[in-house]
Amino acid sequence: MRVGVLTGGGDCPGLNAVMRAVVRKGVQGYGYDFVGFRDGWRGALEGDTVQLDIPAVRGMLPRGGTLLGSSRTNPFKEQNGVHRISETLAKHEVDALVAIGGEDTLGVAARLTDEHGVKCVGVPKTIDNDLSATDYTFGFNTAVTVATEAIDRLHTTAESHMRVLVVEVMGRHAGWIALHSGLAGGANCILIPEQRFDLDQVCAWVTSRFKASYAPIVVVAEGAMPKGGDMVLKDGSLDSFGHVRLSGVGEWLAKQIEEHTGKEARTTVLGHTQRGGTPSAFDRWLATRFGLHAIDAVRDGEWGVMVALRGTDIVRVPLAEATRKLKTVDPALYEEAGVFFG
Ligand code: F6P
Repeated sequence: MRVGVLTGGGDCPGLNAVMRAVVRKGVQGYGYDFVGFRDGWRGALEGDTVQLDIPAVRGMLPRGGTLLGSSRTNPFKEQNGVHRISETLAKHEVDALVAIGGEDTLGVAARLTDEHGVKCVGVPKTIDNDLSATDYTFGFNTAVTVATEAIDRLHTTAESHMRVLVVEVMGRHAGWIALHSGLAGGANCILIPEQRFDLDQVCAWVTSRFKASYAPIVVVAEGAMPKGGDMVLKDGSLDSFGHVRLSGVGEWLAKQIEEHTGKEARTTVLGHTQRGGTPSAFDRWLATRFGLHAIDAVRDGEWGVMVALRGTDIVRVPLAEATRKLKTVDPALYEEAGVFFG
């Protein structure tokens, strides 16, 4: 059996740990061969391959990024995309594919399996944690840890100057990173895309925090929107899956807070620091277990499935189900955090 492996979409801490586990168990346990495709679906389209064997994954457990490279290439948007992928797989004698990615990469894997008979198994990755059917994606815990450490640091500088510190975090249309890091970091308020925020209310919370002699930290998800307003876009450009680039709401909010409260405000945009660097211990553990179970799904010939975390068990779910709906923050969870606002 020859197995192709690719990593697609935004990179995420733990990608290398998944590949290490897939290759180690695949080679040692089942005698499989592997081939890596460079830059996600682009490598599969263009036949751009990388050697993937035990020496290639040695030492990769703590390494961030992806040894295969990544891209947001969508084969369904490319001329003869599916045909080209089939040709590459045939040329390299690849029997099955392990696709490691988020909703876009796995959405492609689901269609390739269901509509074109390509034998795919998926592994869910994204710092955004917005994939249905799994309790957590790997990468999320690292992103939350990075954001929490940043918030901890911002508290002391905010208090030294008695300023408002607005922290903009990633997450696209889901507020998971904001909610978890905001709670862990003791934010004055947390603003998420799932619930439009009221600017007057935010300013009232900020003012009340100053009255209590503390400087407020406002955690805002990049996709958060004010009531009556829109999402702030970076430049309006779209990737090949049709996603807009976000970021800018933090700057906008700090300006509004200054104008409405008369307090000085600064913004920190954490950006790609949330995605870079070594994975947390939890993400190494989760990524490794996902990898081990993904190669077991290959051995069992169970195609069109994604490995998922349910409680402490790793289960298999249909890829189509896992990518159908974005997992967003439940209103009740958000409400829980409200006791700390203001
Ligand atoms: O999906 C992960 C993510 O990091 C989002 O949180 C963010 O909006 C986006 O990717 C940024 O993507 P890019 O790699 O194009 O900057």
